[in-house]
Amino acid sequence: MNNAAIQFHDQQPDVSSLRDDVLRGLAAQPKAIAPKFFYDARGSELFDRICAQPEYYPTRTEIALLQRYADEIAQLAGADVQLIELGSGASKKVRALLDAMQPAAYVGIDISRDFLMQATHRLAQDYPWLEVHAACADFSRRLDLPRCQSGARKLAFYPGSSIGNFEPADAVRFLRQVREALLPDGALLIGVDRKKDVGVLEAAYNDAAGVTREFNLNLLVRMREELGARLDLDGFEHRAFYNNVAGRIEMHLVSRGRQCIEIDARRFEFVAGETVHTESSYKYSVEEFQHLARNAGFVPLQVWSDPRALFSVHFLGAAGRSAS
Ligand SMILES: C[S@@+](CC[C@H](N)C(=O)[O-])C[C@H]1O[C@@H](n2cnc3c(N)ncnc32)[C@H](O)[C@@H]1O
Repeated sequence: MNNAAIQFHDQQPDVSSLRDDVLRGLAAQPKAIAPKFFYDARGSELFDRICAQPEYYPTRTEIALLQRYADEIAQLAGADVQLIELGSGASKKVRALLDAMQPAAYVGIDISRDFLMQATHRLAQDYPWLEVHAACADFSRRLDLPRCQSGARKLAFYPGSSIGNFEPADAVRFLRQVREALLPDGALLIGVDRKKDVGVLEAAYNDAAGVTREFNLNLLVRMREELGARLDLDGFEHRAFYNNVAGRIEMHLVSRGRQCIEIDARRFEFVAGETVHTESSYKYSVEEFQHLARNAGFVPLQVWSDPRALFSVHFLGAAGRSAS
């Protein structure tokens, strides 16, 4: 087959779903908008730049773990694998696995359509022996995996500690769906950020170059460009801090003063200091995450971590028992 081509499956949510969610989020008390709205092409590029910031330890730590344990991961995954990357973004981390695993097919799934297309095209060019699929989809809807021509067993790969963006109960619900899609003999390889020193955590979400700030503010840029919102971009600032009780980093857009955002005929008032909660990033000890994974019906089979205990990569079997 001509492997520079990719097979594209488009279930991109339309702009009305963005509008509905933003209107609901701004009307809520406290105001909150889901982090998936960071990711248009610009947001994905900004996230890619965040990954390269010196303070952002998760990306380089996870890549080092994947490179170091690629052969072991390949052995656990077995032969003739469909490798399905959830929230694939720039599809960079998966490269650490491709040579060791030699999967039959690769599927990248992401909400950020144009970025996904570019990343999977690059992958297809660099790995001409690989059957490559790109699926633009929103995980908050039903998870439908595209059908591949090759590969008998499924290995889902969910890097970047994106699972931490879900509320823990929602994370269990999402992982149950993933597990269903992997049965009867598939597995999940998932990267999970660990609890650690608050200074290290907070620095990672407040990089000195201000890229995370720009990423957070991109939500407002999208609201202006895609929804025609009337708002003052300079009227908001970035705030990220560790909430020790909840065990999560919280990211907020903070109103510098009294102001309002107008979308269509609706006005959303802000008092000074009021925030829109734009992202949570839950941190899990190895035991906490294994407990969560078991609740979703997975069987923890292996876990790797770095010497500084910053990050963990878990290999979870889908078979074993039914999720209750
Ligand atoms: C934290 S980034 C991780 C990117 C990359 N996998 C990595 O590890 O560096 C989260 C990725 O998930 C995608 N994403 C976020 N919410 C999503 C959703 N609801 N459905 C599908 N993809 C989503 C984003 O577009 C982004 O590429």
